[in-house]
Formats: sequence, structure tokens, C-alpha cells
Amino acid sequence: MLMVTGVGGGLGGAIARRLAGREGVIAGSRRPEDAPAGLPARRIDFDDPASLREGFAGVGTLLLISAGYGEDDTVIARHGAAVDAAERAGVRHIVYTSLTGAGDHLPYALPHRWTERRLREGRAAWTILRNGLYAELLAVLASPDGEGRITLPMGEGRLAAVSREELAEVAARVAIEAHGAPGAPGVPVADGARAGARAPHAGRVYELVGPEAIGGREVAAAMGAGVRYAPGTLADARQRLAASGAADFQVPMLVGTASTVAAGFLAGTGGDLPALLGREPAHASRVLTELFAGAGAGVGA
Ligand SMILES: NC(=O)c1ccc[n+]([C@@H]2O[C@H](COP(=O)([O-])OP(=O)(O)OC[C@H]3O[C@@H](n4cnc5c(N)ncnc54)[C@H](OP(=O)(O)O)[C@@H]3O)[C@@H](O)[C@H]2O)c1
Repeated sequence: MLMVTGVGGGLGGAIARRLAGREGVIAGSRRPEDAPAGLPARRIDFDDPASLREGFAGVGTLLLISAGYGEDDTVIARHGAAVDAAERAGVRHIVYTSLTGAGDHLPYALPHRWTERRLREGRAAWTILRNGLYAELLAVLASPDGEGRITLPMGEGRLAAVSREELAEVAARVAIEAHGAPGAPGVPVADGARAGARAPHAGRVYELVGPEAIGGREVAAAMGAGVRYAPGTLADARQRLAASGAADFQVPMLVGTASTVAAGFLAGTGGDLPALLGREPAHASRVLTELFAGAGAGVGA
């Protein structure tokens, strides 16, 4: 059986919709009753060991979606509990959605690298999908004021933003291929790591960033005529976020993301996405234009 966790979220949900109706695939969620249609769902909460014991029973391949909203110790405890429980349940191959290698300066990089290390040291075969930052994230961060100005503290920095839908497409494909064809001969649980090492994608780290690096000006242009970009300061952004009711851990997350973009560390394109998709990936400016058009966003739109 192949399980995808986090299907109540944007990435896991998109993966679950792609795998809907496929034999031998199940979904995991803290709220299985709300899981996307088309897959049987089990309750999986990394904070609740009993749900992992029961939920991972019979799973051969696990597509582990990171649960990254929290302080580092919280996220590490969640991911550690999930990998421990998967190993105990005899999961043979874990595919983990991590963070692009270019993101090592980001405030939330550490739990991803910790999880990668835990997988390398573990018993199951592993595949690491190092996801770039989503174009969809930029769409959420950019909201124009009454004068059609979007203020972001990114300076003239650029981000090789990637379509979350395409990351979902790749994750679904890699997990299915790693799992093997339904009905293929089973591999003894005790032999998991050795057997997994023969599986497609085992021991591979894929860098999945977008083909175009965009900055604040391109984000504004994607919103429509009349919207313009005004670079802001990190200090102002921190103050605004703290006053907005954001959770304490979210403030450095968002400020640190903008700072890393501004400093030019996330602009690199290339990587493994075209090969895994089998086509040229979507350009971030197009993804944003479509998102904003769909949302009816943009001044004068
Ligand atoms: N690359 C990027 O730009 C970017 C941006 C934001 C986040 N991320 C990371 O990528 C992950 C997936 O992105 P996303 O867009 O799908 O985020 P999302 O929409 O916020 O969904 C995150 C999902 O993580 C799952 N989760 C949270 N706490 C959990 C727990 N205790 N146990 C099990 N699952 C838990 C939940 O799934 P259920 O509701 O089904 O339980 C939740 O819906 C995020 O969790 C975060 O680590 C990456």
C-alpha cells in the first residue's frame, strides 16, 4: 500500500486528487473525514503516536508531507515520530517533501535537514524531494493596498518560484514509481532497506525549483494593470506581521523568507523538475497571472 499524508493541505490535497481512484493508495490526514474524495483515508497525526501505529499498518511506501508550521523542536518531534513509526510498521520506502538546497539560510531549513539526516540514517529506503518555494506562496504574500501598491521587503531579489501543482505531479509520480506496480511481488519487511535500495528513486535527492526567477515587479505585473511594487524594509515587515496576529514562529519565517530572496540566495533555476515532469515547467509569472485571474485579484482587473 502507498500512503500520502497531509492530504488536508495544499500539496497533499493536490497529490491525493492526482492519485484518486488508484488501487492500493490511501490518504492520511488529521481529519480523514475531510480528505479529498477518491481515496480511502486514515487518521494520521504526527503528534499522536497511536494514530501512527494504526495508520501506518500495512503501508509499504510512505509519501511523507512535511508538517512545517511550528518551532523547530515541534517540527523535528513530528517528523521524528513519523519516521520512527513508519520504520516500526515496516514501511520500506519513505518519500519526503523537503526544502530546496538553496534554502539553507531560511529559518525553517533546519527541521528539513534534520529529517533528511534521520532518513539517511534509518532503515527504510528514502527519496528526498527538495521543493522550492511555491509561486502560490508569493500570491498569498502579495496583497495590494488601496493605491494598488504591493509592499514586500524583497528589494530587487528574485525567487525561482515553482508551481505547487507541478510539485504535486512530481511527488505523485515518484511515489508511484518508488512503490512499484500494484500486485508486484512483495518484499519481506525485514529486508526493507536492502530491497528499497533497488527501487526506483531510492537514495535520490531531487532539486525542484522553477525555471524562472521573479521579483516584486513581476508579481505586481501579474496582478494586473495599475499594480506596482514598492520594496519595503524587513523591520517594517516584522512589525506589521507581529501586529497582524501571526503566530510567534511565523514572523521570523516570513521575514527570513523575504530576506533570503532579497539577498539573492533563491534565484537559481535548473534542477530536476523538467526531467521528472517530462516537459518544461510552468514559469512563475504565468502561474501567478493565472492565480490572480482566478481569484479576481488585482486593481483595475
Ligand atoms: N515550498 C514552499 O513554498 C512551502 C510553503 C509552505 C509550506 N511548505 C511546507 O510544505 C508542507 C506542505 O505544504 P502545503 O502547501 O500543503 O501546506 P498546508 O496547505 O499548510 O498543509 C500542511 C499540512 O500538513 C499536515 N500537518 C500539519 N500538522 C500535522 C501533524 N501534526 N501531523 C500530520 N500532518 C500534519 C496537515 O495535513 P492534514 O490537514 O491532512 O492533517 C496540513 O494540512 C507544509 O506543511 C510545509 O512544511 C512549503
